[in-house]
Amino acid sequence: MRYGHFDDEQREYVIDRPDTPLPWINYLGTESYFGIISNTAGGYSFYRDARLRRLTRYRYNNAPLDVGGRYLYVRDDATGDYWSPSWQPTPERDLDEYECRHGLSYTRITGARGGVRAEMLYFAPLDETLEVWRARITNTRDTAAELSLFSSVEFCLWDAQDDATNYQRNFNTGQVEVVDGTIYHKTEYRERRDHFAYFATNREISGFDTQREAFLGPYRGYDRPAAVETGQATDSIAHGWQPIGSHHVKITVNPGETEEVLFVLGYAENPRDAKFDPPGSQTINKVTVEPTIDRWLDPATVEQGFADLRAHWDALLGTVTVTTPDDDTNRMVNIWNAYQNMVTFNLSRSTSLYEAGIGRGMGFRDSNQDLLGFVHMIPARARERILDIAATQKTTGGAYHQYQPLTKRGNNDIGEGFNDDPLWLILGVAAYLKETGDQSILDEPVPFDNAAGSEVSLYEHLRRSLRYTLDRLGPHGLPLIGRADWNDCLNLNCFSDTPGEPFQTTENASGGVAESVFIAGQFVLAAKELAGIAALREQEGEAVVYRAAAEKMSGTIAEHGWDGAWFRRAYDFHGTVIGSGENDEGQIFVEPQGMCVLGGVGLEDGLAVKALDSVAARLATPHGIVLQQPAYSSYRIELGEISSYPPGYKENGGIFCHTNPWIMIAETMVGNGDRAFDYYRRINPSAREDLGEVHRCEPYVYAQMIAGRDAPTHGEAKNSWLTGTAAWNFAAITQWILGLRPDFDGLRVDPVLPADWTGFTATRRFRGATYEITVRKPAGVRGRVTHLLVEGERVEGSLVPLATEGGVVRVEAIVE
Ligand code: BGC
Ligand code: NOJ
Repeated sequence: MRYGHFDDEQREYVIDRPDTPLPWINYLGTESYFGIISNTAGGYSFYRDARLRRLTRYRYNNAPLDVGGRYLYVRDDATGDYWSPSWQPTPERDLDEYECRHGLSYTRITGARGGVRAEMLYFAPLDETLEVWRARITNTRDTAAELSLFSSVEFCLWDAQDDATNYQRNFNTGQVEVVDGTIYHKTEYRERRDHFAYFATNREISGFDTQREAFLGPYRGYDRPAAVETGQATDSIAHGWQPIGSHHVKITVNPGETEEVLFVLGYAENPRDAKFDPPGSQTINKVTVEPTIDRWLDPATVEQGFADLRAHWDALLGTVTVTTPDDDTNRMVNIWNAYQNMVTFNLSRSTSLYEAGIGRGMGFRDSNQDLLGFVHMIPARARERILDIAATQKTTGGAYHQYQPLTKRGNNDIGEGFNDDPLWLILGVAAYLKETGDQSILDEPVPFDNAAGSEVSLYEHLRRSLRYTLDRLGPHGLPLIGRADWNDCLNLNCFSDTPGEPFQTTENASGGVAESVFIAGQFVLAAKELAGIAALREQEGEAVVYRAAAEKMSGTIAEHGWDGAWFRRAYDFHGTVIGSGENDEGQIFVEPQGMCVLGGVGLEDGLAVKALDSVAARLATPHGIVLQQPAYSSYRIELGEISSYPPGYKENGGIFCHTNPWIMIAETMVGNGDRAFDYYRRINPSAREDLGEVHRCEPYVYAQMIAGRDAPTHGEAKNSWLTGTAAWNFAAITQWILGLRPDFDGLRVDPVLPADWTGFTATRRFRGATYEITVRKPAGVRGRVTHLLVEGERVEGSLVPLATEGGVVRVEAIVE
């Protein structure tokens, strides 16, 4: 069942009923001011840090769902009937029309009732720290409509964690000012904060409210605010309790006409020595912010700002576009997957319906993998990100598992010891170099643990990453796992028996020998990439050493990591195998099958094909590939968090979508385009659109997890938006299945397609030139590209010769 449809032309997803299975959200903002917004206008906004600078309140995990948002009430002053175009927060008021269009960094929600239509456009303009709400109210009756509009937001007292817990203080601190129709929220501005929020409108107001209880009335909710019901705001000034912002605007709309009303919600900071006006008073100095407010209350600025936002996305998404025989592929590659990659670039794992914006810093491994999805769109910012991440590395090559985006420092609460972490830095830098060819990054001086004076080249950081693994090998010669590897829940040294103790931070037991076959595969891949980087720098001697290390580790995997028909997963604290036919549960895990083959292990001796056949036989389901089988049926203290989940969820046998593209890529490496593409479609959200009532999450973005076959809710997705799934699927489809793959020496066109395809076309901007690519393949053929025709000239192989900057080059790739 569908709850909407794709409008590919407009690059929007159109939701045609408000009661989607879960709130289906979108993101506002592109650089420093951000927000989430659901299809019923739920959500909140923040400046840079979703915990420390939260502007508005949202009630996570509430009943009813999705409480708190950017609401507009429309009241017919002739009858007293009131409603909201976003359906929430007045769901009892049926709408005659409803539509939500989620676009790229904007959302448009239209509702109509009783002959009045209200269209709300929400967006945060580029280069500003504010959001615009543009309301267009149309009267479709044949008599004039006398209406009252009420805007509504609830302010968060900045630190979202404190705001949700510290009531003994917070019920006393709330403060506002209201001047010329603009509401200023200034809690704690009187003391150490230099920032405040404002909420303004371009219309004359007939009143306002800033104290929640005055607006709602005692014991009432947002579904029936007293001020809206009676049709008159109370001009309340908040003193403590819950400051809100609500304007009361009266308009008359003539038959067939449309009135436009603008609201602007924003964040501003003042220099500490110019906070108050007049100096010495307690009144916000508004001289600094007034020009911005005035500008954005002008409809012409809003039109231009919205056009600029659309142009911004045109430019970003123009880097890779494809036209294949499959619409679900086209729209994910050209629009939604790329967009999701940019959202993960901006927000890492901080803010979604599943991440409350207070918990997690930027992950070392997550950020390096996210790079795969955005480096081609914003190489300069990818470069900056790499240098930030590398600067948190320790001299041992070890890495803090997370760092804080505001300070860019390693996060001591989580600490280090996730032994896969350092290797991801090599893989992230390799992706950057392949995309840009910018070798200068390798010579950038980068400190350890942000300590001034400790700078060495980025290249030296990469060497230490590799060294970190080699310095920590276990009894089989496989890498020690530490706290965990990519699978955060495989906690082999933890032995936790205390309720609620966090598996990620519990003091590890010492003396164990837990080893990871996954890290071994990842090491082989990373060592080969570092050899490639060394070769670029003409360090042939080093390249030989890294290749030899990769070779040796491959041998170790074949000897101790192979189980007969698939790669084993690990050895535990006591040296007992995990992910083997010898185990009663958890016999086969997906991660080493993917990562070992990505490293090239087993490609020559047939182990790769065998491992992938085992995945197909034992792990693949119609909804995607599950993480392991059989799922653990009880808690196992020696395995940790993985067995804390009921069977079929998350790491315990869920379809952990992040791992699926590894298998797709591995399948292309053994030449199996049919299977690779089949797996791709199983979790492609657009291809799952018809399963709306099963899948339940947004059909336009990937979710981290889909419940596995052991779960009663098999096929149900959770944790949409902020997941490494986005970047990896983008890499799998664009670089491996469609084969448009940046390499150290240039762009390859090396697709591994489904047999029945006859080719596809693509445009790829790469290192300053534009390549117009046509892949031709006879139906039924399963081959690879044998040669290219570059502007009609034959070139053997699949490597496109680099064109001069600004050039446009026609490339035909011939598959035989
Ligand atoms: C989740 C993992 C996540 C980890 C770290 C666990 O509860 O299952 O997917 O990576 O927490 O926050
Ligand atoms: C989510 C985490 O963000 C990621 O780092 C981890 O690899 C996966 N969960 C698997 O546990």
